Amino acid sequence: MKFGQSFLLSLAPGLSGCGSDSSDNDESSITDALRAMATEQRLTGNPAAGRNLPAIEDPVPQLGMKLFFSKALGGLTDSACVTCHHPLLGGGDDLPLPVGVEAEDPDFLGPGRLHSVAGHHFDGGPTVPRNAPTTFNIALWDKVLFHDGRVEVLDGVDSHNGEAAPIRTPDSAGNVSDPADPDALNLTQAQSLFPVTSAEEMRGQFMAGSSNEELRQALVARLTSQALPNTWLAEFQSALNSNESAAELITFETISFALAEYERSQVFVDTPWKDFLEGDDEAITLQAKRGALLFFTAPAAGGAGCSGCHSGDFFTDEKFHVVAIPQIGRGKGDGTDGDDDFGREQTTKRPEDRYAFRTPTLLNVTETGPYGHSGAYKSLREVIVHHLNPAAAIDSFDFTLSNLDPAIQKTNAERNTRLALAQLEHNRSAGSSKLANVALSSGEIDQLEAFLQTLTDSCVADDSCLAQWVPGGPDPDGLRLLPSNQF
Ligand code: HEC
Ligand code: HEC
Repeated sequence: MKFGQSFLLSLAPGLSGCGSDSSDNDESSITDALRAMATEQRLTGNPAAGRNLPAIEDPVPQLGMKLFFSKALGGLTDSACVTCHHPLLGGGDDLPLPVGVEAEDPDFLGPGRLHSVAGHHFDGGPTVPRNAPTTFNIALWDKVLFHDGRVEVLDGVDSHNGEAAPIRTPDSAGNVSDPADPDALNLTQAQSLFPVTSAEEMRGQFMAGSSNEELRQALVARLTSQALPNTWLAEFQSALNSNESAAELITFETISFALAEYERSQVFVDTPWKDFLEGDDEAITLQAKRGALLFFTAPAAGGAGCSGCHSGDFFTDEKFHVVAIPQIGRGKGDGTDGDDDFGREQTTKRPEDRYAFRTPTLLNVTETGPYGHSGAYKSLREVIVHHLNPAAAIDSFDFTLSNLDPAIQKTNAERNTRLALAQLEHNRSAGSSKLANVALSSGEIDQLEAFLQTLTDSCVADDSCLAQWVPGGPDPDGLRLLPSNQF
């Protein structure tokens, strides 16, 4: 171990009491160890390097932004993409589990958004079974989208964001590319065909019983309709630089393309960690450097082993692991009562994938809570502590959810969580788990947390910078979702 000596030094007690000379030495040996580690793990700090990505000023992302914020794509015109993926809410919704259609106030976003109860189909609590991941840096995923990877590049192809690769989606039959969508340019475009088809997220009871394709055609018809005050045709013509007719220009293919280009312009990778890797020793604190060493060092060598899964510059292996984050919410129809969520098994139908979820990126993680596929943890510290000893974290988890969101359905949450934990223990004894229990002091957990705080792009914490991703100017259909609350 090249860095072994300095790493041990970093763990030696009493350093904080030393004179400034020796702590300077200490810091420089930690910095050196960290740089050696970064070289060994081939980190550059810039996962966006070499990619062909749109800029938000470009015409197609500008069109996509207007569509992303329009409730015209919601079956009942009460939900838009931005309902659950607002740039000022970290590209998510700040809720453990989202509330999509039929909210009390459809334009109220974030904590406090509830389903309307009276005369509707719901009971107030969230109906969407999983946490809304951020759309930030969506263009950096090369293999899988969704917590269970149900939009994925088929085996063997390695390309940026799945460009020009065969992509499987929920519309595909089996392990083949999506026949309805052979032209999807990338994973992000393939994904953007689906939120409109989800009854809980955007569709409601609109055209219930019709196929996904029929529903999409009905939404296209809405955008091309002359009934509403409607300037979409002019918007499409200008973005696509064409004066063809609505029938030619407004299709679900162009809609999904524009939505995807808007999302793909949300590249936020300018982090203090990147500045450090590019040579600025002062870009991150000594505490964060110690945290980084723990993060990138295997448990067998005295570290926390985080980079075993959160690997590389994008902090994910794009694979699926059982971590046993509490299974809260209504679930995905799995298990004896239909309120469990089997994760990756949903997609692969392989029992060995039960309760495995995709490793999330950790870029901008300070802004993207609540955490885990179910949003069960509000704070970064809680989710870190969970990883270090899942059984202990589950023993002390408050299954009444009183600190989280009391509106969430609680039936069987503890039982389902313990089943996930049993699966983790099973994988551990079979030797197939990469998650080891690691005993860290509270100071070391602080260090890990300090490191994770260096992974946020300053734009993401700055409303005026993010304002470029929020539409101003004329509203093409009067259905733009402008939040009714401040956040
Ligand atoms: C009601 C909330 C809601 C709405 C509205 C919504 N989403 Fe999502 N979105 C989610 C949830 C929840 C997931 C994760 C689902 C899963 O993994 O099973 C998700 C996943 C995604 C992902 C994949 C992210 C990743 O890291 O894999 C993208 C991209 C995305 N949504 C874009 C969109 C677009 C585009 C729209 C509008 C057409 C939209 N969403 C509308 C809640 C929502
Ligand atoms: C075995 C692979 C693995 C290891 C090792 C691992 N993680 Fe994770 N991590 C995951 C998976 C998988 C999830 C998502 C779980 C889910 O969605 O239920 C996750 C979720 C997270 C989240 C929540 C992110 C979000 O957006 O929801 C954070 C923060 C995190 N991990 C940090 C860490 C830290 C810090 C370490 C080291 C102590 C670590 N992880 C070690 C696989 C791993």
